[in-house]
Amino acid sequence: MTFRASHLLGIEHLHSTEITTLLDLADQYAEDNRKGRAHRDVLEGLTQINMFFENSTRTQASFEIAGKRLGADVMNMAMQASSIKKGETLIDTALTLNAMRPDLLVVRHPHSGAVDLLAQKVNCAVLNAGDGRHEHPTQALLDALTIRRAKGRLHRLSIAICGDVAHSRVARSNIMLLGKMENRVRLVGPPTLLPAGVEEFGVEVFSDMREGLKDVDVVMMLRLQKERMDGGFIPSEREYFHRYGLDAEKLSHAKPDAIVMHPGPMNRGVEIDGSIADDINRSVIQEQVEMGVAVRMAAMDLLARNLGASRRAKTLGVMV
Ligand code: NCD
Repeated sequence: MTFRASHLLGIEHLHSTEITTLLDLADQYAEDNRKGRAHRDVLEGLTQINMFFENSTRTQASFEIAGKRLGADVMNMAMQASSIKKGETLIDTALTLNAMRPDLLVVRHPHSGAVDLLAQKVNCAVLNAGDGRHEHPTQALLDALTIRRAKGRLHRLSIAICGDVAHSRVARSNIMLLGKMENRVRLVGPPTLLPAGVEEFGVEVFSDMREGLKDVDVVMMLRLQKERMDGGFIPSEREYFHRYGLDAEKLSHAKPDAIVMHPGPMNRGVEIDGSIADDINRSVIQEQVEMGVAVRMAAMDLLARNLGASRRAKTLGVMV
């Protein structure tokens, strides 16, 4: 088998063959989901705990549906109502949960690196559902599957990731994944919203939307992540929409068959015009949500297959 990981913490440590293995399996799950076929024996008898320390609609729902479709016992912890903070208390939480013997732990946390830390303390497979501005691997994988299905391939495509890249874990994971699969990635946005040292990522950078979108195959829009901003990064939302919001005119600079993506939640009239988001000939935003369930099914299936080996290795003190 070409999927060796025992956790899914980020795209950074995945090999391109592991990405392809996961996407191929997710593709099969996507087809079965459309036919209404469940695979309840795959995670039968396993316990999945979802711990979301940050707001989520689609990611949490998607992980829950994916687990249930594969037959896992799924439990959602209401983390936001608790007074848990990072550091020792996070580790204490991890140890408490670990004592309950879960098999799969799905974690979203506002601090970059928190999920990796937690993974070191537990004896089960950990899936990162987004940590701070660091990584959001299942989002990048579902984006990749959506692109592959729409374009028929996942290499040598020109992809523009636009908007608030600086605060976006979605952008980071996507830049790594699309780079590993040998695509050309462009980052487009105001200089204040592009991370420092961005050139090191092997991407092209544009501050003008029309130039940045010229002849691209895929336009990926990002939400302005105000909850991660500690000052004024843009003059006003109106001005931002005027310069960087995706509308029909700006999109006309991309290839005529370019697809439009957005991880959600969307701010219509800020980073994207509502009519573009709803245009079924261009927008694949709903397909992204659909592929999210399939990708999470595939990820949990593959990690569950590796569980026995990684638990044995941990007992023996071997690093996996
Ligand atoms: C993204 C996230 O949480 O990072 N949303 C998601 O998972 N669908 C992007 C965002 O919040 O803007």
